[in-house]
Amino acid sequence: MTSILNSLSRTILAGFVLLAAILLIFANHSYMATPEWLLFLLRWSHILFGVMWLGLLWYFNAVQIPSMPLIPDEQKPAISKVIAPRALLWFRYAALGTVVTGLLVAIFAGYAHQAFTLQPAFRAIGLGMWIALFMAFNVWFVIWPNQKRALGIVPAEPAVKAASARRAMLVSRLNTILSIPMLYLMSAQSHGGL
Ligand code: HEM
Repeated sequence: MTSILNSLSRTILAGFVLLAAILLIFANHSYMATPEWLLFLLRWSHILFGVMWLGLLWYFNAVQIPSMPLIPDEQKPAISKVIAPRALLWFRYAALGTVVTGLLVAIFAGYAHQAFTLQPAFRAIGLGMWIALFMAFNVWFVIWPNQKRALGIVPAEPAVKAASARRAMLVSRLNTILSIPMLYLMSAQSHGGL
């Protein structure tokens, strides 16, 4: 057991193996041969990516950003050089994975067009998708370029660095605001709520 828990990749693999065992024992295997089940798998992978994305967004906002002023200057590089770049890597690819799987769910479920044009029956998911796409745009094209300057991944003057850090923080806060209605709308489509 410790050999599994000592390794992140083996730990994650163990989660998938446990799921496979649960499905083997309890699932309706004839349902698992249908396209509906494949769509369900896609929806589940969408939720996995989405949880990782929002988990990291909320970590940045609730833990890392408020902690920075409390950390002595000589210890700050532990965050800016080690933890933040790695967290940002998972963050932006989780955002990408969420977008790709979300779009695929909408396309394979057959309502992408109705959702994007906010037709009444698909208004909840349509609004959620537009908000989430705007958030993903912010991650890749606003937060990440600004963080690269702020963290010294690309060279920048001290004043530019400070302005970039502030811009990244404000847009990250904006995404935090948006995450609350977005998540409501995502789950409202199939479970009522709008
Ligand atoms: C942080 C971003 C996102 C999170 C956390 C998230 C989360 C979720 C959750 C929890 C569900 C509910 C599944 C259910 O109740 O059955 C869902 C459904 C869905 N999401 Fe997202 N999502 C995100 C972004 C996106 C994006 C960018 C798109 C597409 C552009 C998208 C498209 C969809 C679709 C099509 C569904 C299925 C709705 C249904 O038919 O019930 N999502 N998402």
